[in-house]
Amino acid sequence: MSGVILKNVRKTYDNNKTVINNVNLEIKDKEFVVLVGASGCGKSTLLRMIAGLEDISEGEIFIGDKKVNDVPPKDRDIAFVFQSYALYPHMTVRENIAFGLKMRKADKKTIEKKVQEAAEILNLGEYLDRKPKQLSGGQRQRVALGRAIVRNPKVFLMDEPLSNLDAKLRVQMRSEIKKLHEKLQTTFIYVTHDQTEALTMGDRIVVLNNGDIQQVDTPYEIYNNPKNTFVAGFVGSPQMNFIDGKDIGLDENIIYGIRPEKMLSGNGEIKLTVNIDISEMLGSETIAYFNIGESKCSAKLESDVNLNKSLEICMNTSDMYKFDKQTGDRIY
Ligand SMILES: Nc1ncnc2c1ncn2[C@@H]1O[C@H](COP(=O)(O)OP(=O)(O)O)[C@@H](O)[C@H]1O
Ligand SMILES: [Mg+2]
Repeated sequence: MSGVILKNVRKTYDNNKTVINNVNLEIKDKEFVVLVGASGCGKSTLLRMIAGLEDISEGEIFIGDKKVNDVPPKDRDIAFVFQSYALYPHMTVRENIAFGLKMRKADKKTIEKKVQEAAEILNLGEYLDRKPKQLSGGQRQRVALGRAIVRNPKVFLMDEPLSNLDAKLRVQMRSEIKKLHEKLQTTFIYVTHDQTEALTMGDRIVVLNNGDIQQVDTPYEIYNNPKNTFVAGFVGSPQMNFIDGKDIGLDENIIYGIRPEKMLSGNGEIKLTVNIDISEMLGSETIAYFNIGESKCSAKLESDVNLNKSLEICMNTSDMYKFDKQTGDRIY
């Protein structure tokens, strides 16, 4: 049983820059949690602190019910998978997967059995005698996963493991990692800057910004019930439209948020005629871009919509989120 608990965790690097501010987080046993945020927001730092690869400046970290602040990485019962795969080029797939077990002086039979199991789970059976350079990017990433699996860790930590893969392979590996999680029934903590990865993979998502947790919730809640403009703007593509109340005849201290797919070209309580800057035909849909007051907005429309220079946009207040203009916090 191994959840992970972070209590008042803070990280300040030597240059006195605080990159993680008082983070509190409880990750449950067997949960798949995704840490998501823009580049530089502190995701890797947080993951590396859980792994013990980075000291924590303040606070406590528990893995299972054991406080691990002073436990070295190798004794934390975790496995870390990096973006760069970090495979040994001169070793075969088999040797790469077996390497950690060998270092721990596991006996030969156990090693062979575990390597076979991992190869089966990851469909690497026919590649065991190849060197990493004879593999595709996706296969290399699977070897890196294999190396983690054979150690039977209590917690898998993954830092942008799919970032080096092309778009198609990334989509495929997304579901493979999800299946792996179901098969292994272990706690996964997965870092990405990609909101689609976060939404599709996480049981829960932790949205980070500048070293602060903005919201911890299921993908559904993050998308449908964002707590502030940051979260609302971070998930969804194109992003949520933010409109100043005064530009649509509503309360001027409020920013109204509405998703592009809720800007309709039919009927609605609020009707506006906008001038289209540009439109993009994406096959299944067309995205139209325009301004409402000072804000840049977009609408997701049917692909066969006939777009002229101007468009009548309709919105329903039930589809609109209200945010405090000063703080960005959601007003309920
Ligand atoms: N060893 C380090 N020394 C000083 N600053 C660092 C170090 N590592 C990371 N940082 C800074 O901490 C911040 C967060 O970095 P990081 O955790 O790598 O972000 P992310 O993984 O979200 O892109 C960045 O501003 C980065 O420059
Ligand atoms: Mg990083």
